[in-house]
Amino acid sequence: MNDILIICGTNRKDSISKKIALIYQSLLEELGQSTQLIDLLELPNDFAFSALYENSGKNTQFNTYRTLMLEAQKFVFVVPEYNGSFPGVLKTFIDGLKFPGTFTDKKCALVGVSSGVQGAGLALSHLTDIFNYCGTYVLPVKPKLALIDDHFQNGVITNKLYLELLQIQAAKLIAF
Ligand SMILES: Cc1cc2nc3c(=O)[nH]c(=O)nc-3n(C[C@H](O)[C@H](O)[C@H](O)COP(=O)(O)O)c2cc1C
Repeated sequence: MNDILIICGTNRKDSISKKIALIYQSLLEELGQSTQLIDLLELPNDFAFSALYENSGKNTQFNTYRTLMLEAQKFVFVVPEYNGSFPGVLKTFIDGLKFPGTFTDKKCALVGVSSGVQGAGLALSHLTDIFNYCGTYVLPVKPKLALIDDHFQNGVITNKLYLELLQIQAAKLIAF
């Protein structure tokens, strides 16, 4: 599959990460890149119990996302900062995917989002370790959108630098 898969890294309703993921999707499509988006909010509510471990591959609804992740070659993860790291639901999602195979020799880009000053920097480092362990190459440009409430209003990224960083990253990911 040539589409770049964008993953909104939280299942929180009305998350800013989802809104940033949608903006990222337009940036990639403006560059002629086809995309698909996974919002963790769409996952079956009980997937942590019905789609992992001895139930791997047995939850039909979850398998749709498992297959999408298995077939994609490049990913963008839009990652909010929760308690100094990335959301637990994102790790649970990763734990439900086919291993090895989903991430081996693939490429991904990471974007951090936070209401505080860190821009999810630590969360992106934690995820980079995980993806490197799983065999994925992580693009070194990792925009950290700190103090997001001051820089995102009415569905628009108002901080020029933030938008430029996302545009630069999107172009680099296509060429990666
Ligand atoms: C469970 C939870 C924990 C959070 N922990 C942090 C944190 O450690 N640092 C921070 O800057 N913001 C924290 N936030 C705020 C998020 O960064 C903020 O909601 C931001 O908009 C990105 O998350 P969102 O995509 O869910 O909107 C937390 C939010 C939630 C729901």
